[in-house]
Amino acid sequence: MSYLADPRLDAIPKRLEDVKVVVAFVSSKGGVGKTLVSTLTSLLLSRRGVGVGLLDLDVTNPTVHTLLGVDPEKVRPLEEMGVVPPEVFGVRLMSPVFFTMGKPSPLRGESVSSAIREMLSITRWTGVDALIIDTPPGMGDELLEVLTYIRRFRAIVVTTPSILAIESAARIADVLGHRVEAVVLNMFSSRVVQLSRLAVLKSLAPVYTLSYDSEVEESIGCPEKLTSIRLSREVDEQIVNHIAKLMAV
Ligand SMILES: Nc1ncnc2c1ncn2[C@@H]1O[C@H](COP(=O)(O)OP(=O)(O)OP(=O)(O)O)[C@@H](O)[C@H]1O
Ligand SMILES: [Mg+2]
Repeated sequence: MSYLADPRLDAIPKRLEDVKVVVAFVSSKGGVGKTLVSTLTSLLLSRRGVGVGLLDLDVTNPTVHTLLGVDPEKVRPLEEMGVVPPEVFGVRLMSPVFFTMGKPSPLRGESVSSAIREMLSITRWTGVDALIIDTPPGMGDELLEVLTYIRRFRAIVVTTPSILAIESAARIADVLGHRVEAVVLNMFSSRVVQLSRLAVLKSLAPVYTLSYDSEVEESIGCPEKLTSIRLSREVDEQIVNHIAKLMAV
């Protein structure tokens, strides 16, 4: 154990002091739509004139840049008294891909934590009112770093209608407690879900439903297209409205 203080830890709250709300999209299960929904939310919030930052905390497998069509060889952060994230379709994007350049990056927990502290301590979120965080699945180091160093963050728990995913969502919501701002039931189909299973989630926070949209895949890499598909309207009317209200209080 090291008794030397990590100077980066003092920098993190200073970097975030002007940001009004921090919202992390979380889930216990993988592949439930965190990256897609957090990215759409960021693009749509920005369209409403909100200063938006989007932080990809999936250190070993970042994918936000792919959704946004960002080539890390061409779009780069600027080094100026820290690191200024590039603006992509009105959203300030910070991603581990700017450092790994898309190469595989298998890391142990200690290195994952260090990479996250580094990103949080160097990134300048100038002009950002809402910081949206895309997290990898589970309750591992990434989420624990956010819990430890961004204490005021709010969480949106994403799940699919599968019983397995709903049970997992209830577990992560239990850990996050009062921080849970909303639950998103993604790729919802009333044929699949047993409504009684939702009772536990509904008792925690508002539950928003998003349907499966077959236009997503062909819109990947093209934010204009992504924000014009039906799913984006559903995200806008529910999740973006919710965050806008959160910012108003
Ligand atoms: N509502 C939807 N309609 C159509 N496709 C969707 C929808 N939600 C997610 N998808 C697709 O499902 C896949 C998984 O989504 P995504 O990568 O956002 O999940 P994730 O929770 O971030 O995954 P991981 O846990 O691996 O980070 C992607 O191909 C995405 O485009
Ligand atoms: Mg993801």
